[in-house]
Amino acid sequence: MCGIVGYIGKHAAAPVILDGLSKLEYRGYDSAGMAVFDGKHIQIRKSAGRLKVLEELTHGGATMPGNIGVGHTRWATHGAPSDINSHPHYNAEETIAVVHNGIIENYLPLKEKLVSKGYTFVSDTDTEVLAHLIDYYYKGNPLEAITKVMHRVQGSYALGILFAEHPDQIFAVRKDSPLIVGQNEDGCFIASDVPAILKYTRKVYFIQNQEVVRLRADHMHFYTVDEEEITKEPVTIEWDANAAEKGGYAHFMLKEMYEQPKTVTDTLSPRIKDKDIVIEELGMTEEEIKAIHKIFIVACGSAYHAGVTGKYVIEGIARIPVEVDVASEFRYRNPILEEGTMVIVISQSGETADTLAALRESQQLGHKVLGIVNVVGSSIAREADNVMYTWAGPEIAVATTKAYSAQLIALYLLAIKFGKVRGKLDEVAFYRMLEDLKRLPAQIEMLLANKQRIQRFANRYIGAKDVFFIGRGTDFAISMEGSLKLKEISYIHSEAYAAGELKHGTISLIEKGTLVAAVVTQDALFQKTLSNMVEVKARGAFVLAVTNEGNTEIEKAADYVIYIPRTNQYFTNSLAIIPLQLFGYYVAVGKGCDVDKPRNLAKSVTVE
Ligand code: M6R
Repeated sequence: MCGIVGYIGKHAAAPVILDGLSKLEYRGYDSAGMAVFDGKHIQIRKSAGRLKVLEELTHGGATMPGNIGVGHTRWATHGAPSDINSHPHYNAEETIAVVHNGIIENYLPLKEKLVSKGYTFVSDTDTEVLAHLIDYYYKGNPLEAITKVMHRVQGSYALGILFAEHPDQIFAVRKDSPLIVGQNEDGCFIASDVPAILKYTRKVYFIQNQEVVRLRADHMHFYTVDEEEITKEPVTIEWDANAAEKGGYAHFMLKEMYEQPKTVTDTLSPRIKDKDIVIEELGMTEEEIKAIHKIFIVACGSAYHAGVTGKYVIEGIARIPVEVDVASEFRYRNPILEEGTMVIVISQSGETADTLAALRESQQLGHKVLGIVNVVGSSIAREADNVMYTWAGPEIAVATTKAYSAQLIALYLLAIKFGKVRGKLDEVAFYRMLEDLKRLPAQIEMLLANKQRIQRFANRYIGAKDVFFIGRGTDFAISMEGSLKLKEISYIHSEAYAAGELKHGTISLIEKGTLVAAVVTQDALFQKTLSNMVEVKARGAFVLAVTNEGNTEIEKAADYVIYIPRTNQYFTNSLAIIPLQLFGYYVAVGKGCDVDKPRNLAKSVTVE
């Protein structure tokens, strides 16, 4: 939520900041702003709306000369998306400017205290409190003022701060919201995420909680909240800079869907060695794997849906009981984590506030946590006891596709590994599963090649009011994800139901022509779901079926069928999701929606 970029160096700051913000707009896009020191004053330009409004306002940054500045794209929390609530925020004298990502939880008492001391506020934001509070403690030493503020504010924050009296420095601060800094021969940078500065440098420093950085044009100094100077080691980012560009595709989402064969291969192949599954980063001995009594999987959104698939797959293959929790529920429900419980958290960004809190809650209860994470060096990756990376590379579209697919692979690998170690899989079944896994990338490619047929079908539904997704077992898990993909980007109301549950209320919503998408890949449940399809068809539904090749019997209950290649029953979600992603995508495109940046959403949800 919210993206921050800062630059100090030989070049004009504003164009560098605008360029960096364009890579971070996925983090929030309801308003944008910049503060640049022009040699005499800190100039601020900001505006509600997308980044392009700010670009136009500043003529691409040309109207904001100066070599030092900070910028921001916002996802509103406190105060509506408006010009005045946009960041940066000033102190009264306009000598301090602040950009902020996160939430200041105690901003109201702080605001009251500042008002009682004569400070006036112009915005509804929590961030403005920071600008005035820094001003209140500032007596000529920026570091001292900042650390005093850090001791007094509660909540989460990544900050970029300018002081007019120190025009050769930017300050960057972090607590529970992501922030990195980097350097090249032309200057120093701050950013919320790597893609913003990847074009300029690959050497980045991950700022830890309660750390402060003083950036000058040619060097950076790191401090603790107690103003002690510390040293930090840079991390070299290996990503391909083009990975964060659209590369000729109409949208990042389409590009990322097309990257799924590679993502699956990259997540899979380093862990298949000598016809065995080797997950070194698991950090568990065979004895420890045998001692697992129960697994909790905790995540949000699509990562939660991957977890639901994981439950079916791990229980089915390894015969270990699995509970899956939405992270925002898990953290407040006083979960019972007994001896022998393994906790797995799943997150693409590695920054999701509720998932991070669930991780910490589990650790406090004395349990080690395995993180399945995409973003290298993210908060969850750093705090989890062990990290299994999904090698999906940067994912920019707000609607996840390739990271979700990689999460499924990580969960299959764990299930098979655990199943083998615990003696639940014989050699033949084990090798067959490995072979089926290796075939998935080519099968996904085949499904992607079918995109035109799905596009034509999707075009019929751009006017739909409601769409229902049904399935049983893993097919229910993938229905949840298919439904989320459609609704989050096309704004069409959609729900996913366990196919057998529909008649307990929801079936009353089915009208003539309502689209019901039935996922039917589990052979053992085929006839059961077929009956549910007949039930909705009898009430006027138009039934789309996604099923395995050869299941032509389905045609008697379905109006339209998408066949997926055959694979192991536990891996079908990796294939069934492809047409569902394409369907959601093309409905949204047909409606003219902003596919990569759906309204009200942000890629990285760093607030509760
Ligand atoms: O970064 P995370 O995987 O922790 O994010 C979790 C959810 O916010 C995310 O999956 C969200 O539901 C996506 N918009 C789904 O496409």
